[in-house]
Amino acid sequence: MRKPLLAANWKMNQTVAESFAWLEEFDRIGGDVLETDEVDAVFCPPFTALYEMHQGIEQHKMDIELGAQDIFWQEAGAFTGEISPAMLKECGVSYVICGHSERRQLLQESSAMVSKKCAAALKAGITPILCVGESQSVHDGGLTQQWLEAQLYESMGFWDNETEFVVAYEPIWAIGTGNAATAEDAEAACLAIREYLRERGGDVADKIRILYGGSVTAANAAELLACPNVDGALVGGASLKADAFADICRAAFKTR
Ligand code: PGA
Repeated sequence: MRKPLLAANWKMNQTVAESFAWLEEFDRIGGDVLETDEVDAVFCPPFTALYEMHQGIEQHKMDIELGAQDIFWQEAGAFTGEISPAMLKECGVSYVICGHSERRQLLQESSAMVSKKCAAALKAGITPILCVGESQSVHDGGLTQQWLEAQLYESMGFWDNETEFVVAYEPIWAIGTGNAATAEDAEAACLAIREYLRERGGDVADKIRILYGGSVTAANAAELLACPNVDGALVGGASLKADAFADICRAAFKTR
């Protein structure tokens, strides 16, 4: 069985001091979930907090992974403002969010760029969390599956049809709106993603974790995570509160 993966995406929130306070609180109230070893938890603070958080995890001996919210595909050089895979590795990063819809929409990040980012992450030993998801109009038009297949095709030039990574299905209309997908819709989309992976890679599709993201809360997590093809969640707003994120991790644990 696939172990649930719960990822906290803080986006552009939390200073270093706030990040540290979150980590200490999560250790206090969520430590029990991590100790069960039944779920994997990863949190993705802004770049500025990564190094301190890495130290904090070691100091508190926490079984939680550190993720970044972005990565650049070059190893070094004249790329003002970008962060290389080696820089992330040095900060203890083991996951990276690639192609979040906010970056695709606000910063015109293309699927070709996203694919290069995933390739660079894998080469450095960092697991990409590849985000895909449709807009409201695609959803309303009943074209979600076609959209997802096209977006996966364009964003997955990096894939050798064998290597494990993580996919996050995040319908754009559900992100930050309080309007999460129904369990039925989330399951249908995640199943379509798995079938696409199976077509390309065969049985490795059963090992790849597919997360749902978009207005996940402690209140709706159990229902979403009980879906057979939903292997975890990518959580934005609700993950800013350590107690809410701990409850979401607990919900994943209880559904197994
Ligand atoms: P949300 O964000 O949980 O605040 O909807 C999810 C995400 O964008 O990853």
